[in-house]
Amino acid sequence: MSYIVPYIGKGSMFGYEELDAIKKLLLNDETLSCSKVRASFEEKFAEFIGVKYAFALTNCTVALEFASYLAGIQGGDEIITTCFSYQATILPLLTKKVKIKFCDIEPNNLGLDLYHLKKLITPNTKAVFITHYGGIVAKNIYEIVETAHNYGAVVIEDCAHTIGSTYKAQKAGSFGDIGCFSFHSLKNISTLGQGGMITLNNEKWAKIVKKIRGTEPDAKFYACENIFGDYKSPNDNIERHSKNSYTENCDAVFYTGTNATLCEPACAAGIEQMKKLHLFNNRRIKIAKMLNDGLRQIPGTKVQQVDSNYFHTYHLYTFFLTDDAGIDRDTFVNLLDKKGIQIVLRYFPMHLLPEWRMQGGGYGLCPVAEKLWFESLVNLPCYPKLNDEQIYYMIKTIAEIIN
Ligand SMILES: Cc1ncc(COP(=O)(O)O)c(C=O)c1O
Repeated sequence: MSYIVPYIGKGSMFGYEELDAIKKLLLNDETLSCSKVRASFEEKFAEFIGVKYAFALTNCTVALEFASYLAGIQGGDEIITTCFSYQATILPLLTKKVKIKFCDIEPNNLGLDLYHLKKLITPNTKAVFITHYGGIVAKNIYEIVETAHNYGAVVIEDCAHTIGSTYKAQKAGSFGDIGCFSFHSLKNISTLGQGGMITLNNEKWAKIVKKIRGTEPDAKFYACENIFGDYKSPNDNIERHSKNSYTENCDAVFYTGTNATLCEPACAAGIEQMKKLHLFNNRRIKIAKMLNDGLRQIPGTKVQQVDSNYFHTYHLYTFFLTDDAGIDRDTFVNLLDKKGIQIVLRYFPMHLLPEWRMQGGGYGLCPVAEKLWFESLVNLPCYPKLNDEQIYYMIKTIAEIIN
């Protein structure tokens, strides 16, 4: 079916700037891996977010995996996560036999709920995973971070939806201990379809990320007798890959390390996309304003309230059907689809996914998220390429269905 308002596969737009930057790289003799462009992208990103370190990774899922490693989460540990996120937020913990506590969400902001967090947290909580849902920083973010830190828990922000979002002018990814960003094709900017960034201030963790993203294990080295006697590489340049393993006794490997960094052309595209981020975000904000203005005139709909402290970048546009709509959410969404508006709803609550139901998740744990998800929440297509006619068509169609 061809849709009047399709849900397209790109959350940002590309132009000659990205093409030129990539072309330049492909046609010269410099390496396409782990070099100056990556360093420049990381430096710019860290400065933009307001943190000391940023490391480009293959995607946000890997950033979250690294974050759970840095937080020291092991089998038997307890963590708390928002229940309302993409499955990648806690996917790396699935095989670790970690005790997951699912936290409900604030009903308007849709981020992790401070008051439920306070009931769940204990001195055993190793980390708190926050997802800033849809482009807005979680409500009560300072109190959430303070509560977690009071219990000694590491705060991991899943910022896949919040590139450039702020609360009181502070950027998502700089509130907690670790920020994880996605540059997937659908995100507000993209590094050619896949990509991610981890942000942090902790120098020790920064050293570990550098190692483990480049196939070096995170191992504990004890200064002890050199196992190869007086062996010394005749040429440090040639032997530098193996220096650590040959000259010291590796006592224990904590993390095997992996190859998980972004290539130079992807980083070059990232730099160009960063320059356009404000344009993309502003267009999303304009779309959201037009939809909000339209929906406010239609009884049975409720739009998200966003006060002036927030810079919401609308990775997702969300509104709620109320009882006055006189139609159930699923029928409503099916009718939108029939009328040519392609709807993708986000996200099926994680505690109800089969993999987590098998580990203690279940209906009733997060009643706010469950009610919103099954009865009232609607996401409409929202991306910079959407034109005004398509926006008006969505408003007109919603009014027709409800009336
Ligand atoms: C909230 C959230 N977390 C994590 C991810 C994973 O991002 P990536 O595709 O870069 O691994 C996504 C991507 O859709 C997401 O929406």
